[in-house]
Amino acid sequence: MRPYVILARGYREGGHMDTKPLGRSGVDIPEIGMGAWDYEGDPAVMRRALELGSFLIDTAENYKTEEHVGKAIAGRRDDYFIATKVSPEHFRHADVLAAAERSLKALGTDRIDLYQLHAPSDEVPIGETMRAMDDLVAAGKVRFVGVSNFSVEELKEAEDALGSGSVVENQIKYSLFDREFAESVIPYCEENGVTVLAYSSLERGRFVAELRANEVLSEVMDRVCAETHKTPAQVVLNWVLRSPAVVTIPKTNHVARVDENCAASGWRLTESQHAALADAASRRRSKHWWR
Ligand SMILES: NC(=O)c1ccc[n+]([C@@H]2O[C@H](COP(=O)([O-])OP(=O)(O)OC[C@H]3O[C@@H](n4cnc5c(N)ncnc54)[C@H](OP(=O)(O)O)[C@@H]3O)[C@@H](O)[C@H]2O)c1
Repeated sequence: MRPYVILARGYREGGHMDTKPLGRSGVDIPEIGMGAWDYEGDPAVMRRALELGSFLIDTAENYKTEEHVGKAIAGRRDDYFIATKVSPEHFRHADVLAAAERSLKALGTDRIDLYQLHAPSDEVPIGETMRAMDDLVAAGKVRFVGVSNFSVEELKEAEDALGSGSVVENQIKYSLFDREFAESVIPYCEENGVTVLAYSSLERGRFVAELRANEVLSEVMDRVCAETHKTPAQVVLNWVLRSPAVVTIPKTNHVARVDENCAASGWRLTESQHAALADAASRRRSKHWWR
């Protein structure tokens, strides 16, 4: 296979990585980024992603993969957009600052591009956590602030509490098979310039079993794959990208799957293909891990 050549950020020979604005930050990010939960640390995975225009990597202090990410991006730091997260048990002001320092060290960088509150907290007032975020932005250690697993009400509170700019992003579970929470959040995000970073869009790899378990969906998927010349993984990923506010961050430890997943960008399912898949897939309400 002929190697891809980066023509410009976001473009590759033989394919195209679409980008979308990150909230109202003025920065664009690829609509397919790389998740790093359970990332085993092969630098070739993240290097290949960069070649294909997928320069966004999402990790978290509690994934214990920040050091792997740091090693993978070493020497090319400025070419990547690095997102990480602070865990709710570190939401007190001093704890946020300390967690950020640990993440910076593990990542081997002097700034976090997107620092996210991993989940809402019932224990620490959002104002205290956001004051720490403001301080990190003022110190140049964090460029943009995001949240994760926030409902619309929680997102509004976070926006009110942040002094430095706006909350640019809310990272939430969103897949063809699990959409209820996302559907309750996406319209607000679209209207208010907040990017939705969709996670587990491949259902942690279980999309294959989900397809096998649903004969009607399998038939629709076969038809859509034949019409689009795409694989089921690419169709499942592209399905969540319909809204201009949504990007997704599939995780893989395999270079070949980086190629497959990145080719989920640069094209769109038709409205009727999108609707047929949604109709055939059963709806499921996710159990919130953070509650
Ligand atoms: N904010 C939160 O609360 C939260 C929660 C969960 C996840 N996340 C973030 O979202 C990212 C993605 O979600 P996720 O890791 O839960 O799951 P995911 O991206 O839905 O699925 C990852 C799994 O799918 C497999 N896979 C990847 N590409 C594939 C392909 N083309 N064909 C078949 N299987 C494929 C991977 O296996 P291989 O590695 O073997 O390829 C892995 O087991 C995470 O890594 C993390 O960054 C955030």
